[in-house]
Parts: sequence; structure tokens; C-alpha cells
Amino acid sequence: TDHPITAKAHTNIALVKYWGKLDEQLIIPQNDSLSITLDEFYTQTAVQFDPNLAADEVVFDDQILSTTDSHRVRTFLDQVRALAHIDYRAKVTTQNFVPTAAGLASSASGFAALAGAASRAAGLNLNRRDLSRLARRGSGSATRSIFGGFVAWQQGHDDATSYAYPIDEQPTWDIAVVALVLTAKQKKISSRVGMKRAVETSPFYPAWVTASQADFKTMKTAIETQNFDLLGHTSEQNAMRMHALTLSSDPTFTYFNADSLKAMKMVTDLRLRGIPCYFTMDAGPNVKIICHGNDAKHIAQHFQTAFGQDHVLVTRPGAGISISD
Ligand code: DP6
Repeated sequence: TDHPITAKAHTNIALVKYWGKLDEQLIIPQNDSLSITLDEFYTQTAVQFDPNLAADEVVFDDQILSTTDSHRVRTFLDQVRALAHIDYRAKVTTQNFVPTAAGLASSASGFAALAGAASRAAGLNLNRRDLSRLARRGSGSATRSIFGGFVAWQQGHDDATSYAYPIDEQPTWDIAVVALVLTAKQKKISSRVGMKRAVETSPFYPAWVTASQADFKTMKTAIETQNFDLLGHTSEQNAMRMHALTLSSDPTFTYFNADSLKAMKMVTDLRLRGIPCYFTMDAGPNVKIICHGNDAKHIAQHFQTAFGQDHVLVTRPGAGISISD
């Protein structure tokens, strides 16, 4: 194209987690996963392939990335070039509206937006399933960010069969996610490294695969029947099963910090007081609380008192990817 193509993709929070690969090259996971796409956190990326460029140029939040830092993006662009049979280098400009590397999954929205913009800029016109397969090559969780609302990533067994599909793109029930930003510091062990360690060293790993496949089926039922407590309970159980894999890895590690533990206890206490809410956590210390939209404000205030005004964000289900012409 003679002008940059822009794509916008939202991040997603897994209710049934992806934690472990069968194929590291193709990013084929060990289990099915299921997420909710969030409205407030997103990435916007512009891509243009240019015959006059000698090398790929990546600008991330107004900073030009070094060759080392742009490695994952350039590898991804190579895959797009191979698909489109072109050899031009590209200029990539990304704005992130997600607290980076704080467990709020910026690689999900990041690689989904990059897949959308780069494929269209390379002259490809992929349908959403194929876009989802392409985004998967960048980061597993990006597979699901192509769609809005509740989204499943079917594990599959190869590049053709591992993709996401929507379960309920515009949920008619009133659900909110209250995100606690307990620290915006760079995480120490990336999900890529953490899940590899679990696959290779945790004696509980086979049990995780069995349990998460059961959780996936339960979660689908919960969404189909709009059973909030079943959805919340299952996501809490599934999150803790994933975190049990970090504790049981060798060397052992954890994404919990003192504030994570405090926040999880507060969620349990609120529930005992009759307020339906449940927590989940990803590869960082932040806790996300799943609740009824009606209760979100009250719950947010409760956590603002404990952790500070700026550390609590209320989000709603969001839309799938959008790409400019
Ligand atoms: C805990 O998608 O970041 O957020 O495929 O290696 O890039 P790579 O990993 P990534 O892992 C996400 C892990 C998780 C759970 C989830 O989103 O399903």
C-alpha cells in the first residue's frame, strides 16, 4: 500500500489459562483456553512496507526499538512477508494503551494489532480465523484478541487447526472486570519462560492439562447458561491451578507478591459478605476481579481504599480487532 494501515486490538484476560506449548515454533498450546476481551486496554499499530527501506523500523510508544528489542516483531514480519511473497522492509508504529509487562497482557493486543495491520499492509486479506492463526505465531494469547467478548482458543494440533473463535461476541449479561495494578514494574519471568519451565519440570504438569480441559468445558457451559457463579468459581480455580505450576517448577518461582495475596483475600471476604466477585491472575502480580457490572463501582472503591485511587481500573467486555483500509 502507499499509506500505512492501522489496526486496533484489545487485550484479553484468560478465564481458562494457556500455560504451556506442544510446539514452541508454531505456538501450539497444550490445552484449550478461554478469555474475555477487554474494552479499556488496547494497542494501536500502523504498518507500511516500503521498497526504499533497508531495514525494518519499529517505533514503540514513541521510542525507536533497538535491533535486539525489535527481534520478536521482525521475526513476525518475516512470517508475514513469507505469506504475502514480498520482500520489502516495514515501518511499524505502535501505541500501547495497556500497562506494559504488568500482567495485563500487552503481547496479546500487541501481536493481534500487528497481525491485522501487517497482513493488510502486505496485501493479504485474511479472514478472522486466519488472522487469529497469524497472531498466534507472535504470542499465544494474541490468538484470542482477534475477537470480542468471550473467546475460545481451540488447541488444535498444527498451524491450520490452532485458532480462536468467538463464543459470545457481545455478551448480553452485565459483567465487569476490575483490574488492580499492584505494580507496573517489569516482570522478572516472562510467561514464555515460565510456562516452558512448568512443562519441563513441574510434576503437576500432566494434571494441569487434564484439569484445564475440564475447566474449559465447564466455562463454556457457564457462558452458555450465563451462570455467573460457575464462571467465577471456575476461573478462580483455574488461575490457582496455573499458579501452582510456578510453585512446583524447578527452580520454583511465583508471580504473587504480598499485595496479590492481600487482594485475593479481600475478594474472598467480599464474597463471604454476599457480594459475588471472583479473582484471576496472569504472569504478573496484578489481580483482576470478575464481578457484575452493577457491583463494579462499589468493589472498585473498596480496593481504591486499600491500594490507592490510581491502582484500580474498571473494564467491560470489548470488541474484536478493527483494521483501517
Ligand atoms: C498467563 O501469550 O504471553 O496470560 O505465547 O509465549 O507469547 P507466548 O505467551 P503469552 O502467555 C499468556 C499466559 C497467560 C494466560 C493466557 O493469556 O492464557
